[in-house]
Amino acid sequence: MSSSTQGDRASTASDFVVVANRLPVDRVTNPDGTQGFRRSPGGLVTALEPVMAASEGAWVGWHGGVDEELDSFDKDGIHLVPVPLSEDDLELYYEGFSNSTLWPLYHDVIVPPSYHRTWWDRYKKINQRFADAVLRIAAPNATVWVHDYQLQLVPRLLRLARPDLKIGFFLHIPFPAASLFSQLPWRKQILQGLAGADLVGFQRETDASNFLRCLRRFTDYQTKGREATPSLENDLQNICRADAHPISIDYEQIQRLSRDPQIIARAAQIRHELGNPKTIMLGVDRLDYTKGIRHRLKAYGELLADEQLQAGEVCLIQVASPSRENVGTYIELRDQVELMVGQITGQHDTLSHTTLRYLHHSYPLREMISLYLAADVLLVTALRDGMNLVAKEYVAAHQDGRGVLVLSEFTGAADQLTQSVLVNPHDIDGMKVKIMEAVNMDETEQAKRMKRMNHHLKEFDVAGWSDRFLSELAEINSKSAPAKENVARA
Ligand code: G6P
Repeated sequence: MSSSTQGDRASTASDFVVVANRLPVDRVTNPDGTQGFRRSPGGLVTALEPVMAASEGAWVGWHGGVDEELDSFDKDGIHLVPVPLSEDDLELYYEGFSNSTLWPLYHDVIVPPSYHRTWWDRYKKINQRFADAVLRIAAPNATVWVHDYQLQLVPRLLRLARPDLKIGFFLHIPFPAASLFSQLPWRKQILQGLAGADLVGFQRETDASNFLRCLRRFTDYQTKGREATPSLENDLQNICRADAHPISIDYEQIQRLSRDPQIIARAAQIRHELGNPKTIMLGVDRLDYTKGIRHRLKAYGELLADEQLQAGEVCLIQVASPSRENVGTYIELRDQVELMVGQITGQHDTLSHTTLRYLHHSYPLREMISLYLAADVLLVTALRDGMNLVAKEYVAAHQDGRGVLVLSEFTGAADQLTQSVLVNPHDIDGMKVKIMEAVNMDETEQAKRMKRMNHHLKEFDVAGWSDRFLSELAEINSKSAPAKENVARA
């Protein structure tokens, strides 16, 4: 960190800056009634903690308040720089362009994306606001790591203002095929925004190839292998590299928690409270149309109706955590899911037994691990998902070798968790067959598969993910340093 004239962190410059839509904190009410922040659990912040500590890094993001300007503050060793958002910003930039244009477009148009120029204008404005916050704190030659679809214009904005910066971008969600991406009226600006980065990381190889193909088709960039080079007329002259860097979990932490006696006891209690059913199935998702919750419930309801599953012997716990609750498509989905839940429980429950426990809440990590331990089968039936870390957490929690993962082919995780029971969630009959295969899988086979998947996760955890991404970024920069100085001087 560069020296400070005033001595406090807020006035110093950082050598490493993470920028994401959200800060890694949740609001809490302290015992004395005052408001505070608690670090939110999550692999990303855990992974970046050592890098942050070594470089006294900063994290720029929205703190979750509306129309509220906050000063920078430190939390558990991380310097946090809040970016304010007004009610209008939330409506146009967050709910609008980010979550009603980009989110559905990038998830295979499962619901139709909406294109509104007012949303786009606000998206540009807010991306500039995030970039400005970074520019205020980034030291000369700092590394800036920009995250996710809400901030795709930030790499270019940073590059234009500060050619000295090393800029990485990671997209946590899929990047669509050119045939879908071409719908976006602002496709060129988004691509140029991303190409301001030295390195753009994606979850899967396919996402990186889609991006490079779009760059070739819709901009003046030429590509060779994984690298894209702008034409001489372009106001940016950096080479942009696109690569797959599949994200992972804090394996060690999940493994440790899964051995915690309290958590193990809680798992037994959950089973007991559900009446010790022969089979517990589990679904854990944000309540989002990309997650295939309706498809899952359809298959489950039919298995009960067909009596392939016996109502008295099985229970599906569906955790659907509240998400983006002001967005119309999410409101509709909630109605549809809750109707289906009512139909299934109404038809199959008895006074003493429930076939489906639907929970519209989010839970702390410890409770999640208890649920993973209690579940014989995890159902991940997303129609499209960048990665799906729930699938990875479930596997990591099952050091006991028990449990079966049913996993959609349309998740990034399916590339790595190849010993799962893979399903196509659009094929309800096929999915029913696979769910029964999972329910009836013998223990030796379960243990064999769990062991192999655990082996993979242990080797590729979230710390390795961030190390590999940042090393590749550093390597690109050490190679291209002289060229950059020329650009900076010109
Ligand atoms: C996905 C996105 C993240 C986002 C998260 C929660 O995982 O990739 O960028 O933060 O969903 O969504 P929210 O809209 O609540 O931030």
